[in-house]
Amino acid sequence: MARIPDAFIDDLLARTDIVEVVGSRVPLKRQGREYSARCPFHDERSPSFTVSPNKQFYHCFGCGAHGTAISFLMNYDRLEFLDAVEELAKRCGLEVPRDTQQRNQSGESRELYQALEASEQFFVQQLAGSAKAREYLDRRGVDAENRKRFGIGYAPEGFEGIKGALGTDERRLSLLEKSGMLSRNDTGRVYDKFRDRVMFPIHDRRGRVIAFGGRVLGKDDGPKYLNSPETALFHKGRELYGLWQVKQAHSKIPRLVVVEGYMDVVALFQFGVNTAVATLGTATTPDHAELLFRNSADVYFCFDGDRAGRGAAWKALESVLPRMRDGRQAFFLFLPDGEDPDSIVRKEGAAGFDARLAQAMPLSEFFYGELSKDVNMAGMEGKARLAERAKPLLAGIPDGAFRDLMQQRLTELTGVGQRAAAAPQAQATPSMRGRSGAPAPKVSLVRAAIALLLQQPALADAIEPPYLFGTLRQPGISLLMEMIALARERPGIGTGAVLEHFAEREEGAALQKLAMHAFPGEPAMWRSEFLDALAQLDRQTRQQRIEELQARIKEVGMSGLGDAEKAELRELHSGPR
Ligand code: UTP
Ligand code: MN
Repeated sequence: MARIPDAFIDDLLARTDIVEVVGSRVPLKRQGREYSARCPFHDERSPSFTVSPNKQFYHCFGCGAHGTAISFLMNYDRLEFLDAVEELAKRCGLEVPRDTQQRNQSGESRELYQALEASEQFFVQQLAGSAKAREYLDRRGVDAENRKRFGIGYAPEGFEGIKGALGTDERRLSLLEKSGMLSRNDTGRVYDKFRDRVMFPIHDRRGRVIAFGGRVLGKDDGPKYLNSPETALFHKGRELYGLWQVKQAHSKIPRLVVVEGYMDVVALFQFGVNTAVATLGTATTPDHAELLFRNSADVYFCFDGDRAGRGAAWKALESVLPRMRDGRQAFFLFLPDGEDPDSIVRKEGAAGFDARLAQAMPLSEFFYGELSKDVNMAGMEGKARLAERAKPLLAGIPDGAFRDLMQQRLTELTGVGQRAAAAPQAQATPSMRGRSGAPAPKVSLVRAAIALLLQQPALADAIEPPYLFGTLRQPGISLLMEMIALARERPGIGTGAVLEHFAEREEGAALQKLAMHAFPGEPAMWRSEFLDALAQLDRQTRQQRIEELQARIKEVGMSGLGDAEKAELRELHSGPR
């Protein structure tokens, strides 16, 4: 995909004043070095939304919304990325580099979208012409409005339906194949992947068709559902069926209900529950969790009440925990044996289904219920086991009131949470050493270096590769290395742009939080603190290597060491300590 060069984005952000951009849309009040307002992205009475002119980014302590001037425009004015960039470029008289002006899309992916769009139209036409497919949908009670809303169609029998209709030349054939509509057998022959199936198009966040799910009409006709393979446009772990339709139905989505099947989404919609989405035959991934919460603060997971359903719910819980920032809520709803949302909503209507939602189990209850299932809570051993199981999971929850409450609950249940709760993650920086002046613990040193770099990415220019500390085996080292490389590659990059770079990544939330810390000490001191932290890390790296070599000596004896290793050991012992 053609992209706007990072250098252009950096330049654009450097020339833009985020305070002006936000301030022209939301009334800002100056507060010391920053500006604050009531958050435009969630309802609140007292202001927890801040804009930092130094760091050139905004952050809401209430709902966690954050980003640069670009993401602000995307979220506030609901612009696409490229349009937001163009808007800002216009403000400061810059021209967006030419080749990226065509919707940020390479020719090939544009053609793939077109092929999928044409496929949808083909299937819809086929449905109109197939009595048995229409009868099937009649029998399942899908009305005309929802057939249209979801673009439901029919893939005809035979191996040359869509291939014959749309694969009229080599180029088109190849596009159909790349978009997942064709299969290829051992002899290299290509043929329709979907045959004699009811077709459900899957849309992306902008409403473009990116894949299909196809259901057999009768029993014993291969797998019940067949999904498109992963393609350049479709990654099933990141998409949710129905999200586009839900978004169309709401300006602000009040809640999202996650169900298992295509038909569940369609039936719920038809009966008035227009907030359901489905994963595509996969477990709920962390990407799903993020996507869900970005669209709504309340997420309900709906599963079968059987063992498999409970297992799937636990998987979802594991994906959700690290995304449970304050303000977000997750619930679990288990349906009676043999029922699914489709059958329930037909029997009980939207009111019945909503009543079940209202009684769904909060995440905390499901969490402790599952963990203490086969544990004897009357005995110490049982309590200890529960605490042992809970701890690593609780550690994955972002800092905040929710984590504190979950810890508290563990304490109530077992009496052993106290210790865990009393050991929050170290946040020390080199300037925050213990009273004895001893260096802060190892992890916080890496953290401090990252925090400093985040405040002032230009610090990366104070050091030159190779970096000894790069081989240190400690959490955060690879992130630190990556940030140094990023800052050096993109001179002038600011805090906001660094955060943006990591926004979609696992580390994004932690960096965001780190960036929000008012940093102790004077900016003038940061450089020396940064160098000091790296020097200490270098020393630890030497120590690590010495210990490695000593372990080797223990194993094979001094004589077993090669000359190079001996020389290295001498050098290590004489080097800076
Ligand atoms: P279910 O087997 O629970 O079917 O699959 P369902 O949703 O109730 O379907 P209907 O009502 O019989 O039409 C749930 C989901 O699991 C995926 C599909 O996404 C399906 O909607 N699935 C199921 C597959 O991907 N392949 C299969 O063979 C079966
Ligand atoms: Mn069903």
